[in-house]
Amino acid sequence: MIAKALLIVHRREGMEAMKKIAVLTSGGDAPGMNAAVRAVVRKAIFEKVEVVGVYQGYEGLIEGEFERLELGSVGDIIQRGGTILRSARCPEFQTEEGRLKALEHLKEEGIEGVVVIGGDGSFRGAQELAKLGIPVVGVPATIDNDIQGTEFTIGFDSALNTVVEAIDKIRDTASSHERTFIVEVMGRDAGDLALWAGLGGGAESILIPEDPIQVSDIIDRLKKGTERGKMHSIIVVAEGVMSASDLSIILKHEGGIKARVSVLGHMQRGGSPSARDRVIASRYGARAVEVLLEGKKETAVGMRNHRVVDYPLQEVFEGERVLDETMLKLSKELSI
Ligand code: ADP
Ligand code: F6P
Repeated sequence: MIAKALLIVHRREGMEAMKKIAVLTSGGDAPGMNAAVRAVVRKAIFEKVEVVGVYQGYEGLIEGEFERLELGSVGDIIQRGGTILRSARCPEFQTEEGRLKALEHLKEEGIEGVVVIGGDGSFRGAQELAKLGIPVVGVPATIDNDIQGTEFTIGFDSALNTVVEAIDKIRDTASSHERTFIVEVMGRDAGDLALWAGLGGGAESILIPEDPIQVSDIIDRLKKGTERGKMHSIIVVAEGVMSASDLSIILKHEGGIKARVSVLGHMQRGGSPSARDRVIASRYGARAVEVLLEGKKETAVGMRNHRVVDYPLQEVFEGERVLDETMLKLSKELSI
């Protein structure tokens, strides 16, 4: 009881300290980024903290593209895909010169902390900003779901639903025409989207960067399926393994198998966020503001066992992110 009371006092003390924060979205956009921006703005205003929106990620920090955000600035955006703050990949922020320009603008504006909504690249940028003395908190948002320390990133669930819906549609025509289809999904280094979508969409084979299965295995599976009377098949390949068109050429060359190709592309990043992403984004965004107000300097927020947690930003970059082996095993067991 006493410990709890002390915790509340500590938080209030911190809350009185910070008066102005900034929020930006960076890297590849993800459905739910808007819901996170909304939560940051509303929670900050609730705590009597001024919020400034930075346009186009780190580019906006360097160029000083700031705008004060009010409660109404984030009205009617919870359901919208993309990001009202826009996003960018900004090579200049990877230079010291670029970062010093950003620091100058932050100081001029009197900004005392920054919420960075983005993927692991954006988190690296946040780390660099923290080195310059600006407290930062990273809110994980990427359809790749590849940020260490959190079970879910904002945007993953929406993209997953988009991919599964696409697979369902492809399955209809695959079944009518008794065809094999290869569906290429996003994920240069991370296979979560392909794995979850393959499992949720009932794919026969799933190729992900973390588990490079042999093409001969896929051919075996397809041939065994045909022998059992299976007339159509879906193969899901993450773009980081190889392109769907390269895979179709290999299947034809090595197994005499003709496969149609479907590349889902950037439609995976668009669209209205799922209810789950909106809720996660709201929780992460609000927690990010609390974390800054508690006086933490270099933190990430995330989800573990259904609870929102915060942890040192550095942990995102320690060790290798491990794929859920049980998912991989299950996908193979169910697609025999
Ligand atoms: P994501 O955040 O989706 O992973 P990127 O990897 O493209 O997307 O990173 C987004 C931006 O973060 C980059 O364009 C760059 O401005 C910044 N960034 C990435 N890595 C670094 C780094 N090592 N130092 C400073 N800034 C970085
Ligand atoms: O990081 C998100 C992501 O969508 C990856 O899955 C994909 O490889 C990459 O971004 C595509 O980036 P761009 O839109 O810059 O081509």
